[in-house]
Formats: sequence, structure tokens, C-alpha cells
Amino acid sequence: MAVIRLDKFLADAGAGTRSAVKALVRQGRVTINDKFVKKSDIKVDTDRDIICLDGKELTYNEYEYFMLNKPKGVVSATTDAKDKTVVELITENKRRDLFPIGRLDKDTEGLLILSNDGKLANVLLSPNKHVDKRYFAIIDGIVSEDTVNAFNEGIDIGDDKPTLPARLIIRKAGTEEASKTEDNIDKIKILHGISEIEIIITEGRYHQIKRMFEAVGMKVTYLKRLSMGNIKLDEGLKPGEYRRLTEEEINLLKNSLD
Ligand code: URA
Repeated sequence: MAVIRLDKFLADAGAGTRSAVKALVRQGRVTINDKFVKKSDIKVDTDRDIICLDGKELTYNEYEYFMLNKPKGVVSATTDAKDKTVVELITENKRRDLFPIGRLDKDTEGLLILSNDGKLANVLLSPNKHVDKRYFAIIDGIVSEDTVNAFNEGIDIGDDKPTLPARLIIRKAGTEEASKTEDNIDKIKILHGISEIEIIITEGRYHQIKRMFEAVGMKVTYLKRLSMGNIKLDEGLKPGEYRRLTEEEINLLKNSLD
């Protein structure tokens, strides 16, 4: 049970800013248990009282958890002067204190959890907890068993310490492609060194995967996060789409720690 002020309840339930919801109450648009109220500093019980705005019941969640398939071109932040943020992609009524748990680069796609549960975020992002993060990547270069072994040892990416061991799984490595000149006369055989891999890292250093591949002379050209801890990206979500985590997923997320 939580007893909080009506204006906080309304703002947290996504009805507007603290001053906007005060105006809604003054305008007589809010009821508590079917009775119109005019004062927004009145206390409500979030478990028992039924609060309606314009006759529609508002639900109060102390904590909210969303899964977003982050598209390219959007930044993992709550506000940004230049770019669209991941929080702006959650368009339904949401708590105003929502933030992304961890960051993906602007050009990275895939699983991002957004929540207002600061305690869970601290634990999941703690460098000591080693929560697994799995990614799919396309690499400009031919990834070999030597690369797998090097990643398993840890890579010097110019930080104080090498990275912790990362598990690299080669899905496809190096393809040959025939290419033609425009007039179709000369045929040139080119070696196209593109690989597809999956990688599991347990840290979250800045540009970590890109820097790991750079350190072995290759370039990441596409990166997508597939899972974080026990939570997998719902492949039914197209880039830019999101949904709430189920109760089961919230528990799985909380149990992602080693
Ligand atoms: N590693 C990167 O290089 N970028 C990301 O967005 C995530 C991991």
C-alpha cells in the first residue's frame, strides 16, 4: 500500500505534469471513488482508491518496465537537444521518470529495457554483476577461430584493463562474390570478407564491441542486441516498436544476476 498525494498519483499515472494535473483537478475532471474532488493535495491510497480522469480509470504502477526494439538513429537518453530519444518512442501514458537501463549506440538496434526502477538498474548495470548481453553483428572482415580465442582471452581496447572474456560464435565467415563491370564485359572475382557473428559480453564499456573488433583489425557494420540477462528481444517487435514486460519477464530480469 502506498498513500500519496493526488497530484503525484495523476502525474505518475501519465495524466500530465504536476501543474497540468492540478489544473485538471480544479476543472472538476477528477474523481476519487466516484466523488468529484477540487483539491490536489488530498491523499489517496494507490491500492484501494479508484481515481478517474474524465470518467476513465487511471492505473498506478510504482514501477514500469518496457521492452523496446531500439531502431537506428535514436539515442539512449531521456532528453536530447538534437536527436530523438528512446523515451520519446514510448508513446502511451507512462511514468515521467522512465529511463533506459543501459545504453546502445545511436546506430545500434535491438533490445533496450526502459524502467523507472533505479534499484534494479543499478544492480543490472553494476560492473561487478557481469550480466550477460548477447548481440548479433555483421563484421567487415573474416572472423576466424583465432579471433574467437583472442576474444575468449580478453582484448586490450586501450582501457586500464583488457576486456573480460567474451564468447564469440561464428555464424558465417567470409563469402566470395562475383562482380561485373557496368558494361557487363569484364567479370572480376572479388573476395568479400564479411562475417556474421554472435557475441556475449558481460561488461558495458563505451563502444565495447566495436572497439574489440577494431583491436583485431575489423569493423562492425551492423549491431543488434538480442538479449540482456534472462530477457530476450521479442522478435515480433519491429525496430521502433515496444511492449510492456510481462510479470514473468520482470521476475526473470530480476533473477538475471549471477
Ligand atoms: N558495443 C558497442 O560497440 N555498441 C553498442 O551499442 C553496444 C555494445
